[in-house]
Amino acid sequence: MVTHPLIIAGAGIAGLWTALHAAPRPVVLLTGGRLGEGASTAWAQGGVAAALGGDDAPALHAEDTIAAGAGLVDEDAARLLAEAGPREIEDLFALGAPFEKAGGAWALSREAAHSRARVARVKGDQAGAGILAALIRAVKAAPHIDIREGWRAETLLRDANGGCAGVLARDADGGLQRIEASDTVLATGSLGGLYAVTTTPWTSQGQALAMAAELGAVIRDPEFVQFHPTAIDIGRDPAPLATEALRGEGATLIDAKGRRFMKSVHADAELAPRDVVARAVHRQIKRGEGALLDARAAVGEAFPDRFPAVFAAAMSGGIDPRRAPIPVAPAAHYHMGGIATDLDGFTGVPGLWAVGECACTGVHGANRLASNSLLDGLVFGRRAAQALREAAPRPLEPLEPSAPPVLPAPALQRLRQVMALDAGVERDAAGLSRLLAAIDQLEERYGPAPALIAARFVAAGALKRTESRGGHFRSDFPARSERAVSTRLTLDDARAVTVPTPAKAEFAE
Ligand code: SIN
Repeated sequence: MVTHPLIIAGAGIAGLWTALHAAPRPVVLLTGGRLGEGASTAWAQGGVAAALGGDDAPALHAEDTIAAGAGLVDEDAARLLAEAGPREIEDLFALGAPFEKAGGAWALSREAAHSRARVARVKGDQAGAGILAALIRAVKAAPHIDIREGWRAETLLRDANGGCAGVLARDADGGLQRIEASDTVLATGSLGGLYAVTTTPWTSQGQALAMAAELGAVIRDPEFVQFHPTAIDIGRDPAPLATEALRGEGATLIDAKGRRFMKSVHADAELAPRDVVARAVHRQIKRGEGALLDARAAVGEAFPDRFPAVFAAAMSGGIDPRRAPIPVAPAAHYHMGGIATDLDGFTGVPGLWAVGECACTGVHGANRLASNSLLDGLVFGRRAAQALREAAPRPLEPLEPSAPPVLPAPALQRLRQVMALDAGVERDAAGLSRLLAAIDQLEERYGPAPALIAARFVAAGALKRTESRGGHFRSDFPARSERAVSTRLTLDDARAVTVPTPAKAEFAE
């Protein structure tokens, strides 16, 4: 039996599922807030995609995943994901996640770019919260898991013999603590918080990418950030989401004059792939024509029961979605790129693993299919746990760590604005050059803070990719290249990407 402990940093769906399945191996679970806080899982609305319907099959789910990913999906990963989907739902249901059923069968929603209704949901738009509550109960009851609430991984311990020897963590009282372990799993989620408009917790700033890259890990496809087309535009940070399931129910996108605009953009109109809808909404707003989600006919009076989270968010902004369309805008929502791993979550750096949104197996390619994200955390979390159960201990010789520099709040806010402007739904060389120059300037002043390292990867990947594909649209290179090639960058590679055109950081604090 393997008895040496492992560390898991992050307590969203991927971290918790990995922790549960790593038993009997002892786990030290670090979570920056209280369990359930600060994880984007809690805010997931749509649900979990899985081939559960009578008319569906894992092969069809894999096909849709591959098609959505615009030529960059790792097909083995997509097949694994789709085949494992139904079992993951059954197991979560058995654990107490209250997925809806209708007449004994799973109640399934249809979302964009899915050829079937296959999204298992919880009380309309409560999937993330319902699943997370069940996982937290299970984790709290699991004797092999030592939960450290309020503990945040700051940096990884570099081993004298190469690889990772654990983490330097900030504890709940603000002290720095070294925790040594043969295996460390990063599960800290998104980088949406690097953007001024995001649907993820703003504290999610790509910390895992920075920590892993500093230890030599490769970052794959960092330029592929998914923008959700229908964040509710009521000036809140983070922006509340209006789930795509609303469009699956028949809600339409209209301009300020009430005209539907998606019909002229794509044959699937509101159910076109997410990147297509996000660009259309972005352009509507840029042209000053407005973008609103009209669910009055499709949902109407049933709103409070069927979509309670969207209803509450809209009402908090003074909009009653039963009577009025909801103003929407695209928001950074999901990172398809991340720390390159194999299909068991191993990064190639001895002792370092990554699961969930901060990892990149290639399963989402250039554009994630709706509601595949929670499934990714489950399937690849379980696989990592299986591999970790068998991982042999390594002799550890950690070098002295130091905590990373901190980016002061005003500088972070400026970075978020520049990211939204220059590495957003539409990018070009001039904007990306401005962004890189701004990152250089901030790094000179404050040092290589994790947010700056993560932002640098996005900017460098986006500048190098001189084509448009999936979530990455270059207005100066609008066509898709014939060959689809993944970006793979080390930190040195990212630093070597320099501003191609003279760009001065228009960046005053
Ligand atoms: C949504 O409910 O629209 C978001 C689901 C997802 O990001 O997969």
